[in-house]
Amino acid sequence: MRPFLAFPSQPLSLTLFLLSSLPLSRALPWSRHSLEVALSPDTNEQQARLRNPAYQSYLLTLPSDIPSPTCVPSYPDWDVTARLQAHLIAPGDVLALCPGQSYRLDWPLNFTAADQEIVTLGFPTDHTRATLVVSGHLSGANANHSTAIDGRCRGCNRVKVRHVQVDGQRDPDADILPGGGANIAMGGSNAGQLVEYTRSFDPRAWSCLHIHEGQHACSNATIVNNDIGPCGFSEYEEWADGISLSCRDSYVAGNLIKDATDGGIVVFGAPGSLVERNTIWAVNRTLLGGVNMVDYDPWSGDYSGTIVQHNLIVGGLPGHEPDDPRDLDAFVKVGIAIGSRIWFGDKYNDTRYVEHGLVRNNVLTGAFGYGIAISGAKHFTVRGNILSGNTSFVGSPGPTCTFELQPRPWVYDSLTVSASAVQDEFVDEEADMAICLLKPGDEAVWDEWVWDDEAPVDSGIGQLQPLRQMVARQQARRVHAHSGEDDL
Ligand SMILES: *[C@@H]1O[C@H](CO)[C@@H](O)[C@H](O)[C@H]1NC(C)=O
Ligand SMILES: *[C@@H]1O[C@H](CO)[C@@H](O)[C@H](O)[C@H]1NC(C)=O
Ligand SMILES: *[C@@H]1O[C@H](CO)[C@@H](O)[C@H](O)[C@H]1NC(C)=O
Ligand SMILES: *[C@@H]1O[C@H](CO)[C@@H](O)[C@H](O)[C@H]1NC(C)=O
Ligand SMILES: *[C@@H]1O[C@H](CO)[C@@H](O)[C@H](O)[C@H]1NC(C)=O
Ligand SMILES: *[C@@H]1O[C@H](CO)[C@@H](O)[C@H](O)[C@H]1NC(C)=O
Repeated sequence: MRPFLAFPSQPLSLTLFLLSSLPLSRALPWSRHSLEVALSPDTNEQQARLRNPAYQSYLLTLPSDIPSPTCVPSYPDWDVTARLQAHLIAPGDVLALCPGQSYRLDWPLNFTAADQEIVTLGFPTDHTRATLVVSGHLSGANANHSTAIDGRCRGCNRVKVRHVQVDGQRDPDADILPGGGANIAMGGSNAGQLVEYTRSFDPRAWSCLHIHEGQHACSNATIVNNDIGPCGFSEYEEWADGISLSCRDSYVAGNLIKDATDGGIVVFGAPGSLVERNTIWAVNRTLLGGVNMVDYDPWSGDYSGTIVQHNLIVGGLPGHEPDDPRDLDAFVKVGIAIGSRIWFGDKYNDTRYVEHGLVRNNVLTGAFGYGIAISGAKHFTVRGNILSGNTSFVGSPGPTCTFELQPRPWVYDSLTVSASAVQDEFVDEEADMAICLLKPGDEAVWDEWVWDDEAPVDSGIGQLQPLRQMVARQQARRVHAHSGEDDL
């Protein structure tokens, strides 16, 4: 257990001073325990004093009508958004939420100054993380509420979102909210923001977690160890991203993204960023692209210094029963999509190509349309990526296809890709709008399944292990710090 940030191992006298200025609520049965945990006394003397009956009775004399200093409870419910917001005023303010509690938000909770933090008390990593629930009504004054946490304010450098859950409460019968913001909307013209150990799912709008570029002045965001998804639905234009990264020089690692539907991780240029050791898994929904490097905007196609490596992308998998309907909906159209034409075909002319990214040593397993498809790119390097375990490349052209696509592991179009180095396996073929592929009839997936015992040795994740083990191994490598470039 790490010390709670608001009270980093203070001398007890200072702690008592803080306590006397911030009375404790006795309504919460776990509050004293949490307090002790939070204080994390690190000397025997402090521990003895915490157990001292005089200190215990001091706690009992504290008034009970004011919120706990240890965490802000979710009740009373009627003013909860304002009560939470009131804890984020000055630089360095920490809003500590209570484990196991749900907070119904009517408006986005806004960071307002540098070094602020939203966290669940005690840093849980499981279902006891506090849950912020997007609850604004779909009509009236707070119509179109889609964002739970907004960190894009001016001067919000180094703000942190840690160990919380965000339930976007997407109504399955409602269309995706046009123009809405992500569940967690961070970035802006800020540096050094951190999002870790959060869970974000069911966004009403286009993304579970967005790091915005600001005035092209966002830098050095760290997005690690988050549990993302489901995000969006498989149906046409009801899609949502898992993580949408548009902040330069950022680090995105150790995230588990299950059932995103647009891009698992969409890298919007974000030059200088490292995206590594993430797991992207289509369990039950069709995913257009595992990792997308297709967007010209907002960084004018600049992917220089951006590296995508050691990610595990899991396409559709057969269920235990041959006709188990559970898994049959899952399918990844393109494992890693590189170049604007994969997404947009010839909608834009060749002035909107993407440039200078590096994609290496990623591992793909399961059913895909394409493993890696490249069209509309310059100066890209793609090497060392492998198929592992059982794979299948399937799909049939859908209504938005402009020609007869042929599903394949590796494809690039030499007419639209220049000055690039791709690994030898790539086939030169047209791949415009590769995401127009439709999931084939269920039987077709399993007929064309390749039981691949010949997979090349996988340096990153381990070869020919059953999938769940592979995912577990990848996940066991949760990251703890910015690892810098890992040149394997
Ligand atoms: C957060 O900012 C938005 C946009 O300025 C505003 O509409 C909303 O009311 C703010 N949230 C709170 C809790 O004040
Ligand atoms: C909500 O979004 C819809 C569609 O974009 C828009 O017409 C409407 O004015 C918005 N409502 C509010 C209160 O902002
Ligand atoms: C990036 O942000 C992290 C905190 O998230 C900080 O430790 C690190 O020093 C920053 N790096 C640079 C180059 O500013
Ligand atoms: C798969 O998704 C459908 C809705 O799209 C849902 O009804 C079903 O419960 C999901 N199955 C699993 C195993 O998550
Ligand atoms: C490409 O598009 C840009 C902007 O849309 C335009 O200015 C340019 O003339 C176009 N080039 C060609 C070759 O069509
Ligand atoms: C490949 O599929 C076969 C048949 O279902 C299964 O026995 C084997 O474990 C799978 N291999 C991997 C690496 O998942």
